[in-house]
Amino acid sequence: MNYSPVQPPRRILMGPGPSDVAPRVLAAMAAPTVGHLDPYFLRIMDETQAMLRTVFQTENRLTLAVSGTGSAGMEACIVNLIEPGDRMVVGINGVFGGRMADVARRAGADVLTIERPFGEVFDPQEVAAAIKAHSPKVVGLVHAETSTGALQPLEEISELVHAAGGLLLVDCVTSLGGVPVEIDRWNIDAAYSGTQKCLSCPPGLAPVTFSSRAVEAMDARKTKVASWYLDMSMVRNYWSGQSRAYHHTAPINMNFGLHEALRAVLEEGLPARHARHLANHLALRAGLEALGIEYAVAEEYRLPMLNAVRIPEGVDDKAVRGRLLQEFGIEIGAGLGPMAGKTWRIGLMGEASTKRNVLLFLGALENCLQQAGCSIVPGAGVAAANNAYQDQ
Ligand SMILES: Cc1ncc(COP(=O)(O)O)c(C=O)c1O
Repeated sequence: MNYSPVQPPRRILMGPGPSDVAPRVLAAMAAPTVGHLDPYFLRIMDETQAMLRTVFQTENRLTLAVSGTGSAGMEACIVNLIEPGDRMVVGINGVFGGRMADVARRAGADVLTIERPFGEVFDPQEVAAAIKAHSPKVVGLVHAETSTGALQPLEEISELVHAAGGLLLVDCVTSLGGVPVEIDRWNIDAAYSGTQKCLSCPPGLAPVTFSSRAVEAMDARKTKVASWYLDMSMVRNYWSGQSRAYHHTAPINMNFGLHEALRAVLEEGLPARHARHLANHLALRAGLEALGIEYAVAEEYRLPMLNAVRIPEGVDDKAVRGRLLQEFGIEIGAGLGPMAGKTWRIGLMGEASTKRNVLLFLGALENCLQQAGCSIVPGAGVAAANNAYQDQ
């Protein structure tokens, strides 16, 4: 049998992640592999830590890239902070809050969940009530719920968590690199992210950061961390300190990719990067609204990098996504959970957040909608987006 060589089609990744990867990042990943204790690789690790601190806006010493995708970052934070019987409050307003609660229960936490319909966010008072009822060691929230397109404000909640003596854990998988994530200013104790969203690197690593309070809690554990692979007390000796002891063989070339992706983020600068994500979101929004398409999330909580919109009445979800992919090479995401079949998730993450993609997508969508029999003013989407860019 002849197996085919890997020759993936060229796509424009405008879904919920992975996002488009810059050629410079792919080139870094194709560099010669070195050993995981090679002085060159140790230097790359040091630089990666320093760049991650800048992107997370933190001085936290314990900041590194966990080997594994965003979910590994989630598990790493939870299994290191939670001992069996510890109390945790988890906010579920989408798929990833649900995953966090599942992971916490598997780690032996006594979990109290608070819930909001998909697309909504938590207000500080309901988190305060849950803290009062449960006295948690850890409160876990998702900053950018990729499954719904909603952005959770964190500052006020952080004050409440700390006033009650708890630790705040935040999922920044989709937010990091696309909107401000201010770990130190917001007093976040543990956060995890992923490489494949607004950092525009392929999936495979999970940046994490822990505050000194979180490290103290980890150092005060009475039981061993339930996961050998993700035990930060060992992993951190590989990433820093005198010994740089072997723990596991780091995915070398994946780390090369992240290093280059972070260099690109810092070359652009965080404020400029955040402004770019917002500008393209606003133009896309203008275009979608001109095509009669509505957002599924209230305006003040919308994610700029993940636009969750309602599928127009009578339009076949799968057929449109299929045509976008087959005829235009554009991937967008389907709705998840209760939003399945009702929403599309249009990503503008990292490298994919460009004027070119916004205008191309609006033209392609108009084509699909016309074919689906929708009555739209020809060119309205692209024109509205162009006007939005003019106004910026
Ligand atoms: C908010 C959020 N949390 C966690 C994850 C899990 O990350 P991964 O799929 O990289 O394991 C994702 C992935 O889409 C996500 O969007």
